[in-house]
Amino acid sequence: MSLDTNSDPQSPPQPIEPTKIAVLKHRRGSRWMHWINFPLIVIMIWSGLRIYWANRVYAFGILSWEWFMFFPESFYTALDLNQRLARGIAFHFTFAWLFTLNGIAFVIYTWRTGEWREMVPNRKSLRGSLDVLLHDLRIRKTEPPKRGRYNEAQRLTYSLVIFLGFLAILSGFAIFKPTQLSILTWILGGYTSARVIHFAVTIAFVLFFLVHILQVARAGWRNFTSMVTGYEVTETDTSGSNRTSPARQSMEAADG
Ligand code: HEM
Repeated sequence: MSLDTNSDPQSPPQPIEPTKIAVLKHRRGSRWMHWINFPLIVIMIWSGLRIYWANRVYAFGILSWEWFMFFPESFYTALDLNQRLARGIAFHFTFAWLFTLNGIAFVIYTWRTGEWREMVPNRKSLRGSLDVLLHDLRIRKTEPPKRGRYNEAQRLTYSLVIFLGFLAILSGFAIFKPTQLSILTWILGGYTSARVIHFAVTIAFVLFFLVHILQVARAGWRNFTSMVTGYEVTETDTSGSNRTSPARQSMEAADG
């Protein structure tokens, strides 16, 4: 609740009651593509790991010192990933097309609707992301400002994850058809290098996933439901200072 200081100076300030309004946060198209992408990525990681199980070549370490293998046998047993190579390949190559199509649709949609402007980082995004991190860790008191819908850390992460998706598709096709797409495979440093990139992208996806889930849990229920309904309920005072902006009104009109 705030005080109305714009009224007659003779009369005491009147309290302003907050009202709740629903503001469109995510368009229908973005919501659909977001929720289609979620099971697709899970299937791609799960089937990819079934493929990797058959030829486990990577470890984390320096020179001959090996910190850990990707992954211990117990990992495959616990997730029931072993002895399923053929099924893994069948799923991976089928869903790869859906993942690619959804990715292309997302890029076209984001470009046509101008939504990309809400996501692109700029020169100050790295510094801004650090401020967001310090605020999240409760080291910095004031909340860093948002530029439009997202803060700088969100802009940086979402752009990065779109780039990861792009890299997953490119490296995937480079190892899928290394002869027919020899130029692509060559650009990625050859078959072995493209395979390493493909695997590293998977690890990065898993890390993003974990941080994303934590951030969503931290941002709260209202934020989560906005990705389902499209709308986020926010408080405004009766003076309407937090009301829908003209830009958002046109977005709501376009969303139908
Ligand atoms: C979210 C997207 C994706 C994820 C998380 C993912 C993950 C993985 C993983 C973990 C592997 C095993 C890597 C290895 O053995 O070195 C793999 C293999 C592979 N992936 Fe993907 N992948 C994705 C998308 C794609 C796409 C779009 C294609 C395109 C066709 C693709 C094609 C392949 C191929 C050809 C292999 C190797 C199969 C083999 O060695 O027989 N992947 N993927």
